[in-house]
Amino acid sequence: MSARWKVLSLIAVLALPLPGLAADAVKGESYFAVTCGRCHRAGGMGTGILSRRPGIPAQGLLEQREDLTVTFIEAVVRNGSGNMPRITRAEVSNPQLAEIADYLARGKK
Ligand code: HEC
Repeated sequence: MSARWKVLSLIAVLALPLPGLAADAVKGESYFAVTCGRCHRAGGMGTGILSRRPGIPAQGLLEQREDLTVTFIEAVVRNGSGNMPRITRAEVSNPQLAEIADYLARGKK
């Protein structure tokens, strides 16, 4: 396969919605993985910093927290917080952020 075809097929795969997995939670999880995962999954610098903050549950892993709300997550993402840079709408649209926040907060407003 030529390099050009590899690039084109990669773009096609990334642009396709995951077939058969229509639930919003799946979208939220995949946006989370792409935009937040490098800092907030295991071994990420956000996970490391949060795990050292007193009173933070779930070893700093956002995906295992029970205390997060949509409002809090959206505020942190748009404004930044401590060592976390703010993330603009150019990087993550409002609808994408809503999916991510809903996934992490499991519907808690
Ligand atoms: C460049 C790394 C980085 C990225 C990307 C990132 N974060 Fe963070 N995030 C951090 C760090 C570091 C902290 C801890 C901030 C501090 O206390 O200094 C944090 C803190 C948070 C908190 C606050 C947790 C608490 O209990 O105070 C939330 C919520 C959060 N991030 C959500 C997200 C979401 C959602 C995304 C993706 C849209 C995201 N972050 C992307 C690094 C990142």
